[in-house]
Amino acid sequence: MQVTPWDVEGVIDYDRLIEEFGMRPFSEVLGEIENPHILMRRGAIFGHRDYWRIVEAMKAKEPWAVMSGFMPSGLPHFGHKMTMDEIVWHQKAGGKAFIAIADMEAHAVRGLSWEKTRELALEYIKSIIALGLDTNAIIYFQSKSDHVKDLAFELSAEVNFSELRAIYGFDGETKLAKMFIAAIQAADILHPQLLEFEGPKPVVVPVGADQDPHMRLTRDLAARASIFSFEQIKGGLRIRSRKGRDYLDALKDLNFETRFYEEHADVFGNIDEIEREVRSIEVKLGGFAFIPPSSTYHRFTTGLTGGKMSSSKPESYISLLDKPEEAGKKVMKAFTGGRATAEEQRRLGGEPEKCVVFELYSYHLIEKDDELKQIESDCKEGRLLCGKCKKIAAELVRNFLKEHQEKMEEAESRFEDYIIIGL
Ligand code: TRP
Ligand code: SF4
Repeated sequence: MQVTPWDVEGVIDYDRLIEEFGMRPFSEVLGEIENPHILMRRGAIFGHRDYWRIVEAMKAKEPWAVMSGFMPSGLPHFGHKMTMDEIVWHQKAGGKAFIAIADMEAHAVRGLSWEKTRELALEYIKSIIALGLDTNAIIYFQSKSDHVKDLAFELSAEVNFSELRAIYGFDGETKLAKMFIAAIQAADILHPQLLEFEGPKPVVVPVGADQDPHMRLTRDLAARASIFSFEQIKGGLRIRSRKGRDYLDALKDLNFETRFYEEHADVFGNIDEIEREVRSIEVKLGGFAFIPPSSTYHRFTTGLTGGKMSSSKPESYISLLDKPEEAGKKVMKAFTGGRATAEEQRRLGGEPEKCVVFELYSYHLIEKDDELKQIESDCKEGRLLCGKCKKIAAELVRNFLKEHQEKMEEAESRFEDYIIIGL
């Protein structure tokens, strides 16, 4: 199994990903979430980092944000729809939404012309609006955001080549632009916390598991680019300054018992309150005071022909722009969890957990739990055969796409209602 932002190969073992990368299972926070999205409830979102920050901000009705990005190097498909649905859900739950169009990444890493990335980008923007994005969102092209580009430069001062090699496997042949893209993506993720966007706040980044290396780098950079660092001690926090001893003097004004030492200060009291006050002091001093970003990880979308979805194999995925009839045909040819013969399937039942058609139902086509349960048990108990099942799925896909494409067209006429930087 290989999982990097540029390469996903082999059979993915999600438990192993959690273990190896140090993510946490999403199931541990699920119970804390009000009206969780189907992708959360049905296990498509399997992992997270620091999602409790978001849960707490939602509960306390404090400001927080959701941010993710799309690389416009091919047409948007059901895999991208997952991220889009996640952004829209979080926005409705109270997060300020930021959406990056990763045109710099598509240009630098995939070699697409600026004209082509722009043309493709419009389809992503129309799609996410069609999926219910509220006008209160910030959509931007990376290449047109000075906030992001300036912050990327700033962050790049905090990372050296050995680290990039360790995280991404870069070597002597790696283009500088590809390395710079790592800094750009970190800036995408951290810029919602700039003063221009109301300062430090929890930010959740819903992504596929392949993007986790970017999250690890960004979380490190969040700490390194900020002045104060925090370490829990008995009864409070130990605070260090990463930018020189002088900054510690500013902590004199804290409303907590504070002891000063040569290289740090120990502050006693409620740690959340201390952290909040120290961050607000840092912002006044001109620091970033970034909160390490949170993330959620969803499973990779299985290709219709089994194996991974690949933009070079059009029959392996359904694009959100496919003609409904064509998409229906692809579903009819899809790889299922059915048995070799009808007789065998009636006797043994199908295997929905291995079936791409069932995955489509579960993540995209069937909202109601009892409906999904019905199909699942009919399949498992051999009452439903794949031919009929695929017909139902094909019909749902056709209807979904027809409606989605109408909404996309309508979305284009509403572009001016949205903030789209670089359009
Ligand atoms: N690299 C992401 C991809 O290939 C796209 C992306 C760009 C992104 N900036 C981001 C994702 C910020 C999450 C957050 O799909
Ligand atoms: Fe998949 Fe439906 Fe066949 Fe079951 S009956 S294996 S869910 S296609």
